[in-house]
Amino acid sequence: MTGRPRPAIAALPAYKPGRSAAVVEEERGILDAIKLASNEAPFGPLPSVAGAISSGIEQINLYADHRATALREDIATAHAIDVDQVTVGAGSAGILQQLLLAYCDRGDRVAMCWPSFEAYPLFAMLAEAEQDRVPLRDETFDLEALAGAITADTKLVFLTNPNNPTGTTVGTDEIETFLQRVPTTCIVVLDEAYAEFVTDVRVADSTPLIAHHDNLIITRTFSKAHGLAGLRVGYAIGHRDIVSMVDRTLVPFAVNELAQRAAQASLAASDEMRERVAQVVSERERVAAALRADSWTVPDAQANFVWLPVREAAEELGIELEQRGVVTRAFPDVGVRVTIGDVASNDRFLAALADCGVGPR
Ligand SMILES: Cc1ncc(COP(=O)(O)O)c(C=O)c1O
Repeated sequence: MTGRPRPAIAALPAYKPGRSAAVVEEERGILDAIKLASNEAPFGPLPSVAGAISSGIEQINLYADHRATALREDIATAHAIDVDQVTVGAGSAGILQQLLLAYCDRGDRVAMCWPSFEAYPLFAMLAEAEQDRVPLRDETFDLEALAGAITADTKLVFLTNPNNPTGTTVGTDEIETFLQRVPTTCIVVLDEAYAEFVTDVRVADSTPLIAHHDNLIITRTFSKAHGLAGLRVGYAIGHRDIVSMVDRTLVPFAVNELAQRAAQASLAASDEMRERVAQVVSERERVAAALRADSWTVPDAQANFVWLPVREAAEELGIELEQRGVVTRAFPDVGVRVTIGDVASNDRFLAALADCGVGPR
């Protein structure tokens, strides 16, 4: 071992990103693989976003605005809140990590339902916080049980809506009831990475909740609906005290100039963004209906992916799909998550699934 790494870091498993089509092609000796593994958008940048990125290239000899003032202002306007209630980071994952660094010390507790976003446990371990994981109920966040798991030592609780990897949602009323049960000393992180894809009428805009709950911080991203995953920009809205703590942990200039410009341009093109989201939602409904017609169990899909809770068959199904050139995300003994792509990719997935040895369950 070179040097003396912190034991918590030496014990930390690396974050496992979805496998790329190129890696799978190489490994399996196949051609034309497609990646439906990381919940990315199937579209390239909107023309106005591409234009903003191109014009920003002229500036890349300069540091970006560390505070991302113009972008924060646009986000504040979009949510009708004050600019000091907004922070931006290197993807919403960056902000989630910042939240853990800002609020958790060794031995503090972090609560979440599980399975959920795989980065939460890693960030908790980074801060040497202890985790309390509450099982999902019917593939959905069990807010009753989650509230019950919160103790005086719980510094932070994750609420993922829609949840990743299951794609299910809880209603805004339920979140309100949950918030009333959480002690104000515990930060509630409402992770809304997939909010734009939600069509469930029980889910309303959660922004008004921050006016009544000072311990609530809502995280959003430009990676999914806005299709800017490669630029790394996300944001959080909440009480200015939380924003100020999160800001202290931001790596200098972590959100680069191109990312800031692209995010601003994408906010300005929200109608076009929503049209693209509508296409993904329509494909999601088509794929889910096709799967159900084929007797697969598919929980209500409210994000840009579908979830096959195939339990012990997950790994085998993931491999069978990969052998047919469709790269998905298998969570061993839990299920397989499949990103909604363009029409042709979704058809490839459905055909591969019908062809493979794992039958509907
Ligand atoms: C639930 C959830 N939160 C946060 C993220 C982080 O996304 P990003 O860092 O690209 O904003 C993801 C990414 O897949 C996610 O699924």
